[in-house]
Amino acid sequence: MINFRPSDFFRPISVPNVRPLFQGASAQPAQSIDTFQSVRFAGIDKAQAVEQPLISFDKKDKTFKLAGKNMEYFLNVTPDGDLVNLYWGKPVGKVHADLLTENTRPTLESQAREYPGTVRGDNRTPAIKVSTPKGHLTGDFKYVGYRILSGKPELKGLPSTYALNPSQAQTLVVKLRDDATQLELNLNYTVFKDSDVVVRSAKVTNRGNEPVSIDKLASISTDFQPDDYKLLKYTGGWGREMQEQIVDLQPGSLLRVASQTGRTGHEQNPFMALMEKNTTDDTGNAYGFSLVYSGSFVAEAEQNAKRKPRISMGLNPEVFRWKLAPGESFQTPEAIGVFSSEGLNGLTKQLHTTFNNHLLRGPWKDKPRPVLLNTWEGVYFDFDHEKVVNIAKEAKKLGVELLVLDDGWFGTRYPRNDDHAGLGDWVENPAKLPKGLGGLAADVNKEGLMFGIWVEPEMVNPKSELYEKHPDWVIHQPDRERTEMRNQLMLDLGRKEVQDYIINSMSRMLDSGNIQYVKWDMNRVITESGSAGLPPDQQMETQHRYMLGLYRVLDTLTKKYPDVLWEGCASGGGRFDPGILPYFPQNWTSDNTDALSRLDIQSGTARLFPPKTMGAHVSAVPNHQNGRSASLKSRFHVAMSANFGLELDPSKMTESEKEFTREQIAYYKQVRHIVQDGDYHLLRTAANNNHPAWMFTSADGNEALVFAFQKQVEIRMPVPRVKLKGLDEQAMYRVDGIKQPLSGSYLMNVGLSPKFKEDMDSNMFYLKKVSDSKDGQAA
Ligand code: GLA
Repeated sequence: MINFRPSDFFRPISVPNVRPLFQGASAQPAQSIDTFQSVRFAGIDKAQAVEQPLISFDKKDKTFKLAGKNMEYFLNVTPDGDLVNLYWGKPVGKVHADLLTENTRPTLESQAREYPGTVRGDNRTPAIKVSTPKGHLTGDFKYVGYRILSGKPELKGLPSTYALNPSQAQTLVVKLRDDATQLELNLNYTVFKDSDVVVRSAKVTNRGNEPVSIDKLASISTDFQPDDYKLLKYTGGWGREMQEQIVDLQPGSLLRVASQTGRTGHEQNPFMALMEKNTTDDTGNAYGFSLVYSGSFVAEAEQNAKRKPRISMGLNPEVFRWKLAPGESFQTPEAIGVFSSEGLNGLTKQLHTTFNNHLLRGPWKDKPRPVLLNTWEGVYFDFDHEKVVNIAKEAKKLGVELLVLDDGWFGTRYPRNDDHAGLGDWVENPAKLPKGLGGLAADVNKEGLMFGIWVEPEMVNPKSELYEKHPDWVIHQPDRERTEMRNQLMLDLGRKEVQDYIINSMSRMLDSGNIQYVKWDMNRVITESGSAGLPPDQQMETQHRYMLGLYRVLDTLTKKYPDVLWEGCASGGGRFDPGILPYFPQNWTSDNTDALSRLDIQSGTARLFPPKTMGAHVSAVPNHQNGRSASLKSRFHVAMSANFGLELDPSKMTESEKEFTREQIAYYKQVRHIVQDGDYHLLRTAANNNHPAWMFTSADGNEALVFAFQKQVEIRMPVPRVKLKGLDEQAMYRVDGIKQPLSGSYLMNVGLSPKFKEDMDSNMFYLKKVSDSKDGQAA
């Protein structure tokens, strides 16, 4: 053990750090922020990092400056030892005395506090609440010191952002202490060179002699200057995920977005954005907050009576409490804070960059995603080996590359022929699959397709061999009836033996044949939250322990089977969040496959998440969820705006539908690099808009794909032109269907004129750059 000395902290940037400084730090190769990764980045890229420090400390004013690509974030240690936020926004170079004095006023209400507690007369929502052995609430932390690290340390046991090499990012760790309780608090801040993002998290360590109870511990808390603000957030439900809402933030009010049933949910996303009053899609300042976590969370936006806003986000204290024994630490999930001076579209750009470059990982991150056919809406539970192979044969003719066998393939004593039985028993049903998964995969491969499978490993049906053997393995409270949802209960993933059961059964399955894709589903929420594996005073840890267990399982499996393409699902988009992205590069966006409904769902989802993380399928009409019959063309255009798939029985298609499908899939394969690897631009959101539109520009800037939609025919109303984005003003582009090339400036200022005939109609335009300048220089 090495005790830190205060003098170690007060120093200018030192890159790299090779000595562990804080208590508990070891000289192990770093795996997590706990170890301060002092070895991993040693000796790397020193010159570059020193030349362009992203984080610096002004000793005189005790001010930290954190710089992103086009953003600065200033923190200050007041003479009283409080940590305050001086400024966050476009680069200003330096902060001056007026800002410093404003923030050293004695009343906490007037300060922009970085991690407020409850003790010293601040009426706003706290970031931290800890109950002490004496029964008091505490959380008044004073500055002790800091450390600057090159790169971005991983968080142990939690999904977290990463930097591919240490020169891409720097991390500031500010240490604070509450003397009365001997609690130590590390606030972690990472900035990346390529984006305008501050990634934050907190870690509390109990240096006292008695256990304390953590009642609330936010991942991020930041105060803003008094002004008028709006808030962007998402609401929704099953089949209508990610519905955008923009509301006013009112003085003297608190807006909460939260989930408390163990997953982030269809009804909300762990995201909110604070917008200055005049901020639009393309102009003005906006600050986005996104939590890298997939369980119960709370995001709070408060504006006090003096119009000072505070945003905080983290684990939801309604369903979380943690007993922290002496010497132990607790690390929060991390939150991503994004700044944009270019309105909401700027926010989208920053989020997509962060998710693409610092959260998604594995071989599939940048590989073309296969065109898949999922059997669910085509045949539901009604299939056998031969039928699946026949579907594969037909699918191949349409151009499909991956056949996904959805629910219903498992269970021997309790076969899964409907949703009443079988979950938990991950063994093939021999009546349906006599050659097993291995045999089926081989036969599907023979047809020239990859093979993939559906699983729902976090669940168990009471009608299963697993439940008969281990009734205490489910989340439950001993004195209450166990609420079933979709006839199933949730396994208690906080327990190591449950985690190991899942890892082993999934490994057995994946080892049994050439399975190249897994759809990992999760179809219910937590009720009667409680664990048979925990003592009474730790029952409130059940939900977070579940998440830590889930992340261990996902980390183990995705590392053990890196070549498998993992797609997440939770009855559609019920767990589509940054916390799931490190494991699942692709996610089923919604169970609702109706093209019209999908406009709002996909435009809301793509505001935050890159389209390459979204799955979108063409299904049969009338649509199975809402009975609507959208044209095949518009169903294709919606699904081609993300990772494309079919979800139908090809034997039920007419010859002309098959012909159209063949053509469109062949076309999608030619342009999918634009959608999957290019930049996404929302041209007109689907929220409250009859004519949504979006487009993609290819990574090399030479191609673009535009999708424009009409929800409903409006009698004698003109259709607005679609003004494009992300093109080169000077360059000339050939637009399919238009004879003469058009300039980038024309396309972005005058725009294209889509033609619509019916309800839920669509247009797609492909653009190719033909010259770099208006006078015809070749591209
Ligand atoms: C959930 C999923 C669907 C499908 C079914 C199978 O509802 O969201 O896509 O996989 O389960 O039971």
